[in-house]
Amino acid sequence: MIRLLHLSDIHFGAVDERLVEPMLDLAHRLRPDATVISGDLTQRARPEQFAAARAFIDRLPGPVLCVPGNHDMPLYNLVLRLAAPFARYRRAMGPELEPTLTLPGAVLQGVNTANPLVWKSGVLRPSSTERLERTFASAPPGTMRIAVLHHAPVPAADGTPADMADPSAVRTALMQAGADIVLSGHTHMPHTGIAETSAGVLFLQVGTAISSRLKTGTNDLALITLGDSELTVESWLSPPKAAGFEAGPTTRYGRTLAAWQKLTDS
Ligand SMILES: [Fe+2]
Repeated sequence: MIRLLHLSDIHFGAVDERLVEPMLDLAHRLRPDATVISGDLTQRARPEQFAAARAFIDRLPGPVLCVPGNHDMPLYNLVLRLAAPFARYRRAMGPELEPTLTLPGAVLQGVNTANPLVWKSGVLRPSSTERLERTFASAPPGTMRIAVLHHAPVPAADGTPADMADPSAVRTALMQAGADIVLSGHTHMPHTGIAETSAGVLFLQVGTAISSRLKTGTNDLALITLGDSELTVESWLSPPKAAGFEAGPTTRYGRTLAAWQKLTDS
């Protein structure tokens, strides 16, 4: 069994400070094998926001795998946005924008979908696809292959279309690269689902763990437990005005013949 804590869109610079300590406390109580943050570590990519994000990440149960989101590139400083969009991210988080994390039975590959040439939508670059293919092809048989990208190539929970260039081609590329699971954020709405157009790939999204930039009024994160042929997504929610997180719905997925099926909701 592998336990992954999935957080996203923590947006330092627009954090609900009341939730920081309860979230860190919950993270340690859940005892994950690793923590994943699927982008938007900051609100405006300012150095002090990255410093606060770094300090928070250093307190999470590790190892921690992060990728950049669209908010992690400067928005108003156009020279920096175009010349070195990820310089501040790298200074805080290290040089690698697309880290790999290997656990017993699973491999996670980060993908940088943030695109400085547009306002906020994402892109899957050919170099990222090649890296996914290399990482997933070199994993031993039976390994769960997990891609982590900020922008999800599937519609949001409310039906808003995927905020990515050519999402259908992205889904196909992820499937062909061998991804079993794709973890994303960006919409600030939790959502799990099986895209019918990408047989075999399970797309899991969380909203924002601790930011005040809410779409649903509720902060959330997820604990994903991976078994041999079964996966459980436990949602943890902080409803409006709550000062902490409580257990939300749990969804179970089973896998047969390389395809996921929803088993139960509770
Ligand atoms: Fe965000």
